[in-house]
Amino acid sequence: MTGKTLALGQTLGFADDPFQSGPDAARHNAHGGVLIEGGRITAVGDGADLRRAHPDATVHDFGDGLITAGFIDAHAHYPQTAMIASWGKRLIDWLNDYTFPQEMRFADRAHADLIANRYFDLLLSNGTTTVCSYCTIHPASVDAYFTAASARGMRVLGGKTCMDRNAPEGLQDTPQSAYDDSKKLLKQWHANGRNHYVITPRFSPTSTPDQLAALGALWAEYPDCLMQTHLSEQLDEIAWVRALFPDARDYLDTYEQHGLLGRGALFGHAIYLEDRERDRLKEADASLIHCPTSNTFIGSGLFDMAGLMAQGQRIGLATDTGGGSSFSMLRTMAAAYEIAQLRHNPLHPSQLYWLATQGAARSLHLDHLIGNLAPGLEADLIVLDLASTPAIAQRHAEANDLWEALFPTIMMGDDRAIRATWVNGRMMLR
Ligand code: GUN
Ligand code: ZN
Repeated sequence: MTGKTLALGQTLGFADDPFQSGPDAARHNAHGGVLIEGGRITAVGDGADLRRAHPDATVHDFGDGLITAGFIDAHAHYPQTAMIASWGKRLIDWLNDYTFPQEMRFADRAHADLIANRYFDLLLSNGTTTVCSYCTIHPASVDAYFTAASARGMRVLGGKTCMDRNAPEGLQDTPQSAYDDSKKLLKQWHANGRNHYVITPRFSPTSTPDQLAALGALWAEYPDCLMQTHLSEQLDEIAWVRALFPDARDYLDTYEQHGLLGRGALFGHAIYLEDRERDRLKEADASLIHCPTSNTFIGSGLFDMAGLMAQGQRIGLATDTGGGSSFSMLRTMAAAYEIAQLRHNPLHPSQLYWLATQGAARSLHLDHLIGNLAPGLEADLIVLDLASTPAIAQRHAEANDLWEALFPTIMMGDDRAIRATWVNGRMMLR
């Protein structure tokens, strides 16, 4: 064993953003190779050339399997794993009737460990190598999350969800305890191995202005951390925010007034934005996280991908499980395509794939480490089988180019399409 691994197959990465440069931004090699050493990608190129240059490497030949960066899920709720696909409610009732009772169970560390381990196994089987997740109000839910991710060597982001009103008694903290607990967890987990702590007020309806201000102060102390919350997901929610914050100019202002708008802020959903909000989000270089299966499942609305991209916003893609209806970023890309179609703006497969890899990494400010096939990046990779079911295989057989070959898997694929996953250079075959 030399410690070198050479993966052979088709390779797909990005030299640029396909929303700016079109499909030519992609780098595809039908007979490519990726060299992995010490947990990093050290070369990407022609498979035969790499094989000749590195005769000492352990070779895994995936034939016409497609090697890409692992998927990155920029917004999820791991504590909602066991309540995914809960029927019939819209956001506020869905939170009260399904979500909060489920999150109460995380007072028990053993339950948090059980679900965290189950969750990461589900992610890896779906080809997702990085996630940015909410935990619950309980600090132990954060320990369970980072412990389970570390055991798998995954680069993950997450934080304690803070709420001090409009939630059940057992799910509330206070401005002071939210600040103290978050700070303690941040010091313990941030930049500890591949873990990133994210300051996490759930959303304005469940935080008092005092709590938002306390978390804004914490973020000012640790500006290299990210901050995540929800913004403008449903119209009822926006009306509620207006009633709770009568002095705010709009929903975004409830965060802005408390030091929670800036570069490194991640706003989940962002469907119903006022012009002022769009302009401020862009000026602040905040990230908007599109959660398409959630937006259809909870009946939220149609994200304006084309308009927001044209404005140059920083946008990531995410499942939002368990409001989202799938752990798979393939299903998530399909839903993003369908929502964009309903707005008469079909997304190209290169754009969908970029959003689930490099775009999501960029939204999390991690594109210097993950999200692409390039020397120096960490070896979080997947291999896709582009003919993983009979229905996909028969469509794939008609394909004339890469995008036609890939699009059936984007639209119809799931965990059966994932042949192999590497985390930090360690391979797991399926
Ligand atoms: N808004 C506040 N909390 C949540 C949540 O858990 N899921 C979704 N989809 N929206 C939210
Ligand atoms: Zn969410």
